[in-house]
Amino acid sequence: MIGFARAGDRLVCDGIPLSAIAEQEGTPLYVYSAAALRARYRAIDTAFGAYPHALHYALKANSTLAIARLMRELGSAADANSIWEIELARKAGFAPADIVFTGVGKSRAELECAVPLGLKAINVESAGELSRIESIAERLGRVARVAIRINPDIDAQSHPHISTGLKINKFGVARDTARELIETLGPDGRRSALKLVAVHVHVGSQITTLDPLRRAAGFLADLAADLQRGGLALEYVDLGGGLGISYDGGDVPDDDAYAAALIEEVRATGLPIVVEPGRTIAGPAGVLLARVIDIKPRDAEGDFAILDAGMTELMRPSLYNAYHRIEPVDGASRATRRYEIVGPVCESSDVVGRDRTLPELHVGDVVAIRDVGAYGSAMASNYNRRPMPAEVLVDDGRWRVIRRRQTLEDMLALEQP
Ligand SMILES: Cc1ncc(COP(=O)(O)O)c(C=O)c1O
Repeated sequence: MIGFARAGDRLVCDGIPLSAIAEQEGTPLYVYSAAALRARYRAIDTAFGAYPHALHYALKANSTLAIARLMRELGSAADANSIWEIELARKAGFAPADIVFTGVGKSRAELECAVPLGLKAINVESAGELSRIESIAERLGRVARVAIRINPDIDAQSHPHISTGLKINKFGVARDTARELIETLGPDGRRSALKLVAVHVHVGSQITTLDPLRRAAGFLADLAADLQRGGLALEYVDLGGGLGISYDGGDVPDDDAYAAALIEEVRATGLPIVVEPGRTIAGPAGVLLARVIDIKPRDAEGDFAILDAGMTELMRPSLYNAYHRIEPVDGASRATRRYEIVGPVCESSDVVGRDRTLPELHVGDVVAIRDVGAYGSAMASNYNRRPMPAEVLVDDGRWRVIRRRQTLEDMLALEQP
């Protein structure tokens, strides 16, 4: 059994009891399954079959070096959202020609570094950004490969904080003005320091129905076909992030249906498909282990269970009211009780799981917060001077620390008294 599963009473990762890992490495602790990461990548890659495609793993989901390297070894390309993610990708072995640079706000300094690298594309978010890239490329005597991100005004039907494709969202060039901007990159060669290689959409994350993804792909394919008729020879279309995942056991479309829908929309253009999946690859492949540090009465029906991990280690529940399954790693057969599962941080919003019914918890028990491989450790912070948690990768029957726990000295190394 790949990934996280129950073996009798115990929760295991690729066969290794999580309680043993917690005992040795301490908590809070992120644990990832290399086998699960590989399986998710391969399943998506296989779903696209023979249709020309490239998976650009979205580093924003989880850019811990060992995980980025594992994705590279699988043959993935990369989607980087800052110059630092680009540098990380290069340390992990990604060639610049396999990196797309996305992101709604790229600073002048970031663009100065990115343009000479010869990336696969800089995904451009505005007319101003395009001009800034152009002036840098002209000065350096280079041709910058660019893709224009278009805001298609399509509702992703996801959480408002992770929906990006509506007119009211800050992302991309507005649908009505995109055409005009793209035509300045036309075959007349007026902007010879820029080469348009693709058009791009990303309408949001945690999308659990095919409809918004299909509509965005259809919109982009129509535009690409039109541009091709006008003499603009694109190299590919970039359809943005991947599918959402099932945090609560509800249905999500499978990889085959997802890939088939995108291919169906794009096929007539003859263009290869680029996608930038993050969550669907890394999300289910990680858990956060936390120890119960206190139990105290809440009301007649239940207690607070206070963990040694909270919004500093996993921001998603506080930020988006996101749901993650929580379960004790051992003792799953105990009688149940109601709990408000909270973190140790000085904020009332530091709730990891609201009103949960769980096998009875005791101080010292270890619980696993599930499906946190994406947007988990990557969003951790030092609030309350809490150190970044350690991270462990389970691979081939063994585990190793891929990021040691931060210390106060690590934090203070940046500071002067
Ligand atoms: C431009 C872009 N590409 C890719 C992704 C990754 O999305 P996901 O993790 O949902 O696959 C994101 C995340 O929101 C994004 O903003």
